[in-house]
Amino acid sequence: MKNSDMNYRPWDSNQITREYFDSLLLEMRHIDGLIPSTKLELYGEEFDTPIMMAALSHLDNVRENGMVEMARGAKAANAVNWAGMGDEDEIAAITSTGARTINIIKPYADHNYILKRIEHAENCGVMAVGMDVDHSFGSNGKYDIVLGEEMEPKSLSQLKEYIQSTKLPFIIKGVLSEQDAYKALEAGAKGIVVSHHHGIMDYAVPPLLILPKIAKVIDGQIPIFVDCGVMSGMDVFKALALGADAVSAGRVIMDPLKKNGSEGVKNQIIKMTEELAGVMARTCSKDINHIDSSLIWHKKKWF
Ligand SMILES: Cc1cc2nc3c(=O)[nH]c(=O)nc-3n(C[C@H](O)[C@H](O)[C@H](O)COP(=O)(O)O)c2cc1C
Repeated sequence: MKNSDMNYRPWDSNQITREYFDSLLLEMRHIDGLIPSTKLELYGEEFDTPIMMAALSHLDNVRENGMVEMARGAKAANAVNWAGMGDEDEIAAITSTGARTINIIKPYADHNYILKRIEHAENCGVMAVGMDVDHSFGSNGKYDIVLGEEMEPKSLSQLKEYIQSTKLPFIIKGVLSEQDAYKALEAGAKGIVVSHHHGIMDYAVPPLLILPKIAKVIDGQIPIFVDCGVMSGMDVFKALALGADAVSAGRVIMDPLKKNGSEGVKNQIIKMTEELAGVMARTCSKDINHIDSSLIWHKKKWF
Protein backbone atom coordinates (compact mmCIF):
# COMPACT_ATOMS: atom_id res chain seq x y z
CA MET A 1 0.00 0.00 0.00
CA LYS A 2 1.39 3.41 -0.94
CA ASN A 3 1.12 6.66 1.04
CA SER A 4 -0.94 8.11 -1.84
CA ASP A 5 -3.61 5.35 -1.56
CA MET A 6 -7.02 6.56 -0.32
CA ASN A 7 -7.03 3.64 2.13
CA TYR A 8 -3.64 4.45 3.64
CA ARG A 9 -4.14 4.98 7.39
CA PRO A 10 -0.71 5.50 8.97
CA TRP A 11 -2.12 5.32 12.51
CA ASP A 12 -3.86 1.98 11.98
CA SER A 13 -2.00 -0.62 14.03
CA ASN A 14 -3.31 -3.48 11.87
CA GLN A 15 -1.93 -1.80 8.77
CA ILE A 16 1.43 -1.06 10.42
CA THR A 17 1.60 -4.68 11.59
CA ARG A 18 0.92 -5.93 8.04
CA GLU A 19 3.65 -3.65 6.68
CA TYR A 20 6.09 -5.04 9.23
CA PHE A 21 5.30 -8.67 8.34
CA ASP A 22 5.82 -7.84 4.66
CA SER A 23 9.09 -6.02 5.31
CA LEU A 24 10.71 -9.20 6.65
CA LEU A 25 12.57 -11.24 4.03
CA LEU A 26 14.00 -14.73 4.30
CA GLU A 27 17.23 -16.51 3.37
CA MET A 28 17.12 -19.99 1.86
CA ARG A 29 19.22 -22.89 3.15
CA HIS A 30 18.96 -26.15 1.22
CA ILE A 31 22.14 -28.14 1.85
CA ASP A 32 21.59 -30.79 4.56
CA GLY A 33 17.84 -30.06 4.34
CA LEU A 34 15.25 -32.46 5.74
CA ILE A 35 11.49 -32.93 6.06
CA PRO A 36 10.49 -30.63 8.93
CA SER A 37 8.20 -31.34 11.86
CA THR A 38 5.53 -28.78 12.72
CA LYS A 39 4.58 -30.50 16.00
CA LEU A 40 3.95 -28.30 19.03
CA GLU A 41 4.38 -29.45 22.63
CA LEU A 42 2.47 -27.25 25.02
CA TYR A 43 1.82 -27.78 28.73
CA GLY A 44 2.60 -31.48 28.39
CA GLU A 45 0.36 -32.09 25.34
CA GLU A 46 1.25 -32.57 21.68
CA PHE A 47 -0.37 -30.85 18.69
CA ASP A 48 0.23 -31.07 14.93
CA THR A 49 0.79 -27.37 14.43
CA PRO A 50 1.94 -24.22 16.22
CA ILE A 51 -1.02 -22.41 14.61
CA MET A 52 -3.75 -21.99 17.20
CA MET A 53 -7.15 -20.34 17.12
CA ALA A 54 -7.28 -16.79 18.50
CA ALA A 55 -9.26 -16.00 21.66
CA LEU A 56 -12.34 -14.98 19.68
CA SER A 57 -15.91 -14.45 20.85
CA HIS A 58 -19.44 -13.80 19.58
CA LEU A 59 -18.93 -15.74 16.36
CA ASP A 60 -22.67 -16.30 15.98
CA ASN A 61 -22.47 -13.13 13.88
CA VAL A 62 -20.22 -15.08 11.49
CA ARG A 63 -21.94 -18.46 11.58
CA GLU A 64 -24.53 -20.16 13.76
CA ASN A 65 -22.80 -21.76 16.75
CA GLY A 66 -19.57 -20.20 15.47
CA MET A 67 -17.45 -20.68 18.60
CA VAL A 68 -18.34 -24.39 18.76
CA GLU A 69 -17.73 -24.81 15.02
CA MET A 70 -14.30 -23.18 15.43
CA ALA A 71 -13.50 -25.55 18.30
CA ARG A 72 -14.49 -28.56 16.17
CA GLY A 73 -12.24 -27.32 13.38
CA ALA A 74 -9.30 -26.90 15.76
CA LYS A 75 -9.83 -30.38 17.16
CA ALA A 76 -10.00 -31.89 13.67
CA ALA A 77 -6.66 -30.22 12.81
CA ASN A 78 -5.18 -31.25 16.20
CA ALA A 79 -4.56 -27.58 16.96
CA VAL A 80 -5.00 -25.64 20.20
CA ASN A 81 -8.33 -23.85 20.47
CA TRP A 82 -8.76 -20.55 22.34
CA ALA A 83 -11.98 -18.92 23.55
CA GLY A 84 -12.53 -15.35 24.68
CA MET A 85 -15.54 -13.64 26.26
CA GLY A 86 -18.62 -15.83 26.46
CA ASP A 87 -20.99 -17.11 29.11
CA GLU A 88 -20.41 -20.26 31.14
CA ASP A 89 -22.73 -22.36 28.96
CA GLU A 90 -20.81 -21.38 25.85
CA ILE A 91 -17.45 -22.35 27.40
CA ALA A 92 -19.00 -25.67 28.43
CA ALA A 93 -20.30 -26.24 24.88
CA ILE A 94 -16.88 -25.41 23.41
CA THR A 95 -14.97 -27.75 25.71
CA SER A 96 -17.52 -30.54 25.23
CA THR A 97 -16.31 -30.80 21.61
CA GLY A 98 -13.09 -32.25 23.02
CA ALA A 99 -11.03 -29.37 21.58
CA ARG A 100 -8.10 -28.56 23.88
CA THR A 101 -9.08 -25.04 24.80
CA ILE A 102 -7.47 -22.04 26.48
CA ASN A 103 -10.07 -19.70 28.00
CA ILE A 104 -9.17 -16.00 28.15
CA ILE A 105 -11.29 -14.28 30.78
CA LYS A 106 -11.92 -10.53 30.61
CA PRO A 107 -10.47 -8.15 33.24
CA TYR A 108 -13.91 -7.73 34.83
CA ALA A 109 -14.21 -5.11 37.55
CA ASP A 110 -15.90 -7.78 39.67
CA HIS A 111 -12.97 -9.61 41.24
CA ASN A 112 -15.07 -12.50 42.60
CA TYR A 113 -16.67 -13.07 39.21
CA ILE A 114 -13.19 -13.57 37.73
CA LEU A 115 -12.38 -16.19 40.37
CA LYS A 116 -15.73 -17.89 39.65
CA ARG A 117 -15.02 -17.96 35.90
CA ILE A 118 -11.55 -19.41 36.46
CA GLU A 119 -13.08 -22.16 38.58
CA HIS A 120 -15.81 -22.80 35.99
CA ALA A 121 -13.24 -23.04 33.17
CA GLU A 122 -11.22 -25.45 35.28
CA ASN A 123 -14.32 -27.61 35.85
CA CYS A 124 -14.94 -27.65 32.08
CA GLY A 125 -11.49 -29.18 31.59
CA VAL A 126 -9.75 -26.36 29.74
CA MET A 127 -5.99 -26.75 29.29
CA ALA A 128 -5.19 -23.21 30.50
CA VAL A 129 -6.86 -19.96 31.47
CA GLY A 130 -5.77 -16.36 31.14
CA MET A 131 -6.74 -12.73 30.94
CA ASP A 132 -6.64 -10.09 28.17
CA VAL A 133 -5.21 -7.33 30.36
CA ASP A 134 -5.24 -4.94 27.39
CA HIS A 135 -9.04 -4.64 27.56
CA SER A 136 -9.23 -2.72 30.86
CA PHE A 137 -9.42 0.80 29.39
CA GLY A 138 -11.48 2.35 26.66
CA SER A 139 -9.87 4.79 24.23
CA ASN A 140 -11.29 7.72 26.30
CA GLY A 141 -9.04 6.93 29.30
CA LYS A 142 -11.94 5.56 31.36
CA TYR A 143 -12.46 1.95 32.39
CA ASP A 144 -13.77 -0.09 29.50
CA ILE A 145 -17.31 -1.38 29.34
CA VAL A 146 -17.68 -4.45 27.13
CA LEU A 147 -21.24 -5.44 26.23
CA GLY A 148 -22.46 -3.73 29.39
CA GLU A 149 -19.84 -5.40 31.64
CA GLU A 150 -17.45 -3.15 33.56
CA MET A 151 -13.73 -3.77 33.21
CA GLU A 152 -10.84 -2.61 35.40
CA PRO A 153 -7.04 -2.64 35.13
CA LYS A 154 -5.46 -5.38 37.19
CA SER A 155 -2.59 -4.91 39.63
CA LEU A 156 0.34 -7.28 39.98
CA SER A 157 -1.05 -8.55 43.29
CA GLN A 158 -4.50 -9.23 41.77
CA LEU A 159 -2.88 -11.14 38.91
CA LYS A 160 -0.89 -13.16 41.44
CA GLU A 161 -4.13 -14.00 43.23
CA TYR A 162 -5.78 -15.25 40.01
CA ILE A 163 -2.70 -17.26 39.15
CA GLN A 164 -2.51 -18.81 42.60
CA SER A 165 -6.23 -19.62 42.57
CA THR A 166 -5.81 -22.28 39.87
CA LYS A 167 -3.68 -25.33 39.16
CA LEU A 168 -3.95 -24.55 35.44
CA PRO A 169 -1.34 -22.56 33.51
CA PHE A 170 -2.39 -18.89 33.49
CA ILE A 171 -1.63 -16.77 30.41
CA ILE A 172 -1.44 -12.99 30.25
CA LYS A 173 -2.71 -11.75 26.88
CA GLY A 174 -1.92 -8.30 25.55
CA VAL A 175 1.74 -7.90 26.48
CA LEU A 176 3.36 -5.28 24.25
CA SER A 177 6.27 -4.00 26.36
CA GLU A 178 9.29 -5.33 28.20
CA GLN A 179 7.82 -3.88 31.41
CA ASP A 180 4.66 -5.99 31.21
CA ALA A 181 6.74 -9.04 30.28
CA TYR A 182 8.79 -8.63 33.49
CA LYS A 183 5.57 -8.19 35.48
CA ALA A 184 3.98 -11.26 33.87
CA LEU A 185 6.99 -13.32 34.99
CA GLU A 186 6.85 -11.81 38.46
CA ALA A 187 3.14 -12.59 38.71
CA GLY A 188 3.88 -16.24 37.93
CA ALA A 189 2.21 -16.40 34.49
CA LYS A 190 2.85 -19.57 32.53
CA GLY A 191 2.59 -17.86 29.15
CA ILE A 192 2.11 -14.48 27.49
CA VAL A 193 0.45 -13.36 24.28
CA VAL A 194 2.33 -10.57 22.52
CA SER A 195 -0.57 -8.69 20.94
CA HIS A 196 -2.21 -5.33 20.35
CA HIS A 197 -5.66 -6.95 20.31
CA HIS A 198 -6.24 -6.24 16.60
CA GLY A 199 -5.44 -2.56 16.89
CA ILE A 200 -7.00 -1.65 20.23
CA MET A 201 -4.70 1.41 20.21
CA ASP A 202 -3.45 3.42 17.24
CA TYR A 203 0.27 3.43 16.45
CA ALA A 204 0.82 0.24 18.46
CA VAL A 205 4.20 -1.33 17.80
CA PRO A 206 3.87 -4.46 15.60
CA PRO A 207 4.12 -7.56 17.81
CA LEU A 208 6.98 -8.99 15.72
CA LEU A 209 8.98 -5.76 16.01
CA ILE A 210 9.01 -5.89 19.81
CA LEU A 211 9.04 -9.69 20.05
CA PRO A 212 12.85 -10.16 20.14
CA LYS A 213 13.12 -7.73 23.08
CA ILE A 214 10.30 -9.46 24.95
CA ALA A 215 11.81 -12.87 24.18
CA LYS A 216 15.04 -11.70 25.82
CA VAL A 217 13.13 -10.78 28.97
CA ILE A 218 11.25 -14.08 29.04
CA ASP A 219 14.45 -16.01 28.25
CA GLY A 220 12.70 -19.33 27.61
CA GLN A 221 11.09 -19.45 31.08
CA ILE A 222 7.51 -19.60 29.75
CA PRO A 223 5.97 -19.95 26.26
CA ILE A 224 5.47 -16.83 24.17
CA PHE A 225 2.45 -16.66 21.87
CA VAL A 226 1.85 -14.00 19.25
CA ASP A 227 -1.26 -12.82 17.48
CA CYS A 228 -2.44 -9.92 15.29
CA GLY A 229 -2.48 -10.12 11.55
CA VAL A 230 -1.18 -13.68 11.08
CA MET A 231 -2.50 -14.53 7.61
CA SER A 232 -0.22 -17.27 6.22
CA GLY A 233 2.38 -19.90 7.03
CA MET A 234 5.04 -17.36 6.05
CA ASP A 235 3.79 -15.02 8.80
CA VAL A 236 3.87 -17.91 11.27
CA PHE A 237 7.44 -18.75 10.29
CA LYS A 238 8.57 -15.15 10.84
CA ALA A 239 6.94 -15.08 14.29
CA LEU A 240 8.59 -18.37 15.29
CA ALA A 241 11.97 -17.20 13.97
CA LEU A 242 11.78 -14.04 16.06
CA GLY A 243 10.99 -15.80 19.33
CA ALA A 244 7.38 -17.05 19.42
CA ASP A 245 6.62 -20.62 20.51
CA ALA A 246 3.23 -20.60 18.76
CA VAL A 247 0.83 -18.14 17.15
CA SER A 248 -2.90 -17.49 17.13
CA ALA A 249 -4.88 -16.80 13.97
CA GLY A 250 -8.19 -14.97 14.26
CA ARG A 251 -9.53 -13.00 11.35
CA VAL A 252 -7.98 -15.29 8.74
CA ILE A 253 -10.30 -18.10 9.79
CA MET A 254 -13.47 -15.95 9.63
CA ASP A 255 -14.19 -16.45 5.95
CA PRO A 256 -13.55 -20.21 5.98
CA LEU A 257 -15.71 -20.47 9.13
CA LYS A 258 -18.50 -18.49 7.49
CA LYS A 259 -18.45 -20.53 4.29
CA ASN A 260 -17.69 -24.06 5.54
CA GLY A 261 -17.95 -24.15 9.34
CA SER A 262 -15.58 -26.49 11.17
CA GLU A 263 -14.38 -28.03 7.90
CA GLY A 264 -13.36 -24.59 6.65
CA VAL A 265 -11.47 -23.87 9.89
CA LYS A 266 -9.69 -27.23 9.75
CA ASN A 267 -8.69 -26.74 6.11
CA GLN A 268 -7.40 -23.22 6.77
CA ILE A 269 -5.18 -24.42 9.64
CA ILE A 270 -3.87 -27.30 7.51
CA LYS A 271 -3.18 -24.97 4.55
CA MET A 272 -1.22 -22.52 6.72
CA THR A 273 0.64 -25.38 8.42
CA GLU A 274 1.67 -26.72 5.00
CA GLU A 275 2.91 -23.27 4.00
CA LEU A 276 4.89 -23.17 7.24
CA ALA A 277 6.38 -26.63 6.55
CA GLY A 278 7.26 -25.48 3.02
CA VAL A 279 9.37 -22.59 4.25
CA MET A 280 10.84 -24.65 7.11
CA ALA A 281 12.04 -27.18 4.54
CA ARG A 282 13.69 -24.47 2.43
CA THR A 283 15.50 -23.01 5.45
CA CYS A 284 16.88 -26.19 7.07
CA SER A 285 14.55 -25.68 10.04
CA LYS A 286 14.05 -29.20 11.37
CA ASP A 287 11.30 -28.38 13.84
CA ILE A 288 9.54 -25.35 15.29
CA ASN A 289 12.12 -25.03 18.06
CA HIS A 290 14.94 -24.77 15.54
CA ILE A 291 14.10 -21.75 13.40
CA ASP A 292 17.15 -19.53 13.29
CA SER A 293 16.49 -15.80 13.70
CA SER A 294 19.42 -15.04 11.36
CA LEU A 295 17.21 -16.32 8.48
CA ILE A 296 15.34 -13.01 8.70
CA TRP A 297 16.44 -10.01 6.67
CA HIS A 298 14.98 -6.53 7.03
CA LYS A 299 13.87 -4.81 3.81
CA LYS A 300 13.91 -1.44 5.54
CA LYS A 301 15.10 -0.03 8.81
CA TRP A 302 12.29 0.39 11.33
CA PHE A 303 14.28 1.63 14.28
C1 LIG B 1 -14.70 -11.09 16.60
C2 LIG B 1 -13.54 -11.01 17.56
C3 LIG B 1 -13.77 -11.26 18.90
C4 LIG B 1 -12.73 -11.20 19.82
N1 LIG B 1 -12.95 -11.46 21.13
C5 LIG B 1 -11.92 -11.50 22.02
C6 LIG B 1 -12.12 -11.85 23.38
O1 LIG B 1 -13.23 -12.09 23.83
N2 LIG B 1 -11.03 -11.92 24.18
C7 LIG B 1 -9.76 -11.65 23.73
O2 LIG B 1 -8.80 -11.73 24.49
N3 LIG B 1 -9.56 -11.29 22.44
C8 LIG B 1 -10.58 -11.21 21.58
N4 LIG B 1 -10.36 -10.89 20.26
C9 LIG B 1 -8.99 -10.57 19.83
C10 LIG B 1 -8.27 -11.79 19.31
O3 LIG B 1 -8.02 -12.74 20.30
C11 LIG B 1 -6.90 -11.41 18.69
O4 LIG B 1 -6.11 -10.79 19.69
C12 LIG B 1 -7.04 -10.47 17.52
O5 LIG B 1 -8.16 -10.76 16.74
C13 LIG B 1 -5.77 -10.43 16.68
O6 LIG B 1 -5.61 -11.55 15.89
P1 LIG B 1 -6.04 -11.56 14.32
O7 LIG B 1 -5.43 -10.37 13.69
O8 LIG B 1 -5.48 -12.87 13.82
O9 LIG B 1 -7.53 -11.51 14.29
C14 LIG B 1 -11.41 -10.89 19.36
C15 LIG B 1 -11.20 -10.64 18.00
C16 LIG B 1 -12.24 -10.68 17.11
C17 LIG B 1 -11.96 -10.41 15.66
